[in-house]
Amino acid sequence: MDRTGFDEALAALKTHHAALMPLDMRAAFTSDPGRFEAFSLRLDDLLFDFSKCAVTAETLALLEQLARAAKVEQRRAAMFAGEAINATEGRAVLHTALRNRSDRGVKVDGADVMGEVRAVLDAMAAFADGIRSGTIVGATGSKITDVVNIGIGGSDLGPAMATLALAPYHDGPRAHYVSNVDGAHIADTLKGLDPASTLFIVASKTFTTIETMTNAETARRWIAGALGEDAVSAHFAAVSTALDKVAAFGMGQDRVFGFWDWVGGRYSMWSAIGLPVMIAIGPENFGRLLDGANAMDRHFETAPLQDNLPMMLGLVGYWHRVVCDYPARAVIPYDQRLARLPAYLQQLDMESNGKGVTLNGTPVSTPTGPLVWGEPGTNGQHAFFQLLHQGTDVIPVEFLIAAVGHEPALRHHHDLLVANCFAQSEALMKGRTLEEARAQMLAKGMAAQEVERIAPHRVFSGNRPSVTLLYRTLDPFTLGRLIALYEHRVFVEAQLFNINAFDQWGVELGKELATGLLPVVEGKEDAAGRDASTAGLVRHMRELQ
Ligand code: F6P
Repeated sequence: MDRTGFDEALAALKTHHAALMPLDMRAAFTSDPGRFEAFSLRLDDLLFDFSKCAVTAETLALLEQLARAAKVEQRRAAMFAGEAINATEGRAVLHTALRNRSDRGVKVDGADVMGEVRAVLDAMAAFADGIRSGTIVGATGSKITDVVNIGIGGSDLGPAMATLALAPYHDGPRAHYVSNVDGAHIADTLKGLDPASTLFIVASKTFTTIETMTNAETARRWIAGALGEDAVSAHFAAVSTALDKVAAFGMGQDRVFGFWDWVGGRYSMWSAIGLPVMIAIGPENFGRLLDGANAMDRHFETAPLQDNLPMMLGLVGYWHRVVCDYPARAVIPYDQRLARLPAYLQQLDMESNGKGVTLNGTPVSTPTGPLVWGEPGTNGQHAFFQLLHQGTDVIPVEFLIAAVGHEPALRHHHDLLVANCFAQSEALMKGRTLEEARAQMLAKGMAAQEVERIAPHRVFSGNRPSVTLLYRTLDPFTLGRLIALYEHRVFVEAQLFNINAFDQWGVELGKELATGLLPVVEGKEDAAGRDASTAGLVRHMRELQ
C-alpha cells in the first residue's frame, strides 16, 4: 500500500505536538465555550467525548491528513470487500459479514458467504431454542440447566464478557466458562453441577488448542463417569472451523456449528462462538447484538472521517500512543456488568496490535499497540486511580457509562455511579494547583506550617487525558455497537502503524516450548540442554512435589 506523505504527516504532527504541549486544559475549556461540541461525536444516543484530550482543531486536521496518507479508508474498503488483508495468513477479514443484516452479498474468493452465515445462525437458533425450551434434553431426559463453554482466548473472552454484560436479558440456563488449563478452573466449575442437566460447548477455532482439548477430555470423562459413555453425545456440542477434527472427537453432526477461517478468533463472538450467549439470552436478543454491531459497521463504512467514531477513536488513540508517547491506556467501565470488557479488549487490542514489524516485514519505526488494562469503576478508584492522578506516567483513560441503569429501584446507586464517573474525568483534566491545595487546607483551619508541609502532596497536575463513551443503556444492541466500535478502532490504529492486526505469531513460541517442556515436567526427560534458570526451576519444583 502506497503511504506517500505519511512520514511527512507524522513529522508535522510531532512538530505540532512540541508546540502545543503542555496544553492547559482548563484554559482550553474556558477560552472555547464550544470545546465540548467541537470535540465530541454522536451516533444516535451514543456519545464519544474526547474534549478532555489535549487536541485542537489543528491536531484533528493533521491526524486526518495522516489517516489519508495511511490510506485508512481504502484499507477499510478492502476489508469490507473481502480482500485477503490478513496477508501473513492469506485470509480475508470478514467478521462484519457475520452481522450483515442486509440483502447485500459478501464475497470471499468470488463466492457469496452469506448463505452459509445465515444457515449457521439458523442452526444455532434452533439448537438454542431447543435447549431453552427443553425440547432438547440430556441423556436421561433432564432439562439442561447449566451450559459450560470450554474455550480460551477468542473462544472464551467474547462470550464470557457478553454473557455478564447482558445479565438482565439472561433467561436461559446458567452459563459457565472454563478456559484455563489449570485443573482448578474446571474442578471449581463442575462442583455443584449435575451431569444429567449439564451441556458442554467445546469452542475452538482450530480444535487443537491444548487447554481446550484437555478441559474437553476432562469434561467428557465427567459425563461418561456419571452417565455412561453413551450419554456423552447428548451433553456436548462443538463450535469450530476445523470440522474434520471435531468429527474425530466423536461429536454428533447436528451439534457441530461451524465458522470460517476469515473470522479471527478475537473477532468471533458474532459467529457460532456466540452460541452460549444465544442460549443464555435467546436468539432474538442475540440478533439485536448483531444488529448493533451492524449499525456500527455501516457507520464506520460510510461516515466521513471526521464524523466517524471508530476513525476518531483510533486517531485519538494513535495521538496518545505515538505522538504523546503514552505507553498504556486504561479502560474503565462504570458498569459492573462490563467487568470483563478490559480483559476482552486486552486480547482484541494487544493480540492484534502488539506487533513489531510492518506489513512488509521491516521493523516498525514508531511504537505500536499500547498496554490495555482496566477494571470497573468505582472499584478502580479505590485501587489504582491514585497512580492515574498523581503517578509519574500519563495514562489516558477510557470511561464507559450508561445514562440509564437496569435497576430503576436503585436509581440512587446509578446517580452515584454517574457522578463518580464524570468526577474522575473532571479531576484528571482539571487537577489541583498548589495554591488551590493551600487555600483548601487553610479554609479548613489548618495551621500554616502544616499547610506548607502537606500541600505538595495534595497537588494534582491535571491535563491528564480521558475519553468518555456515554450511551442510553447497556442493552444487546448497544453492546454490539460498542464492541464493533472497538474492533474498528483497533483496525484504524493498525493501518496507521502499518501492521497486520489479524495474525498472532507472537503466541506461538511459548506454545512450542511448553510442548517440549511437558516431558521434562512429567519427569520423562531430564532438563539437560535447557537454560540454567529453566533447569533450576524444574529441579526445585521436583523437590517440592
Ligand atoms: O493463543 C492465541 C489463540 O490462537 C487466540 O488467537 C485464539 O483466540 C485462542 O488462541 C484460542 O484458539 P482456538 O479458538 O483455536 O482454540
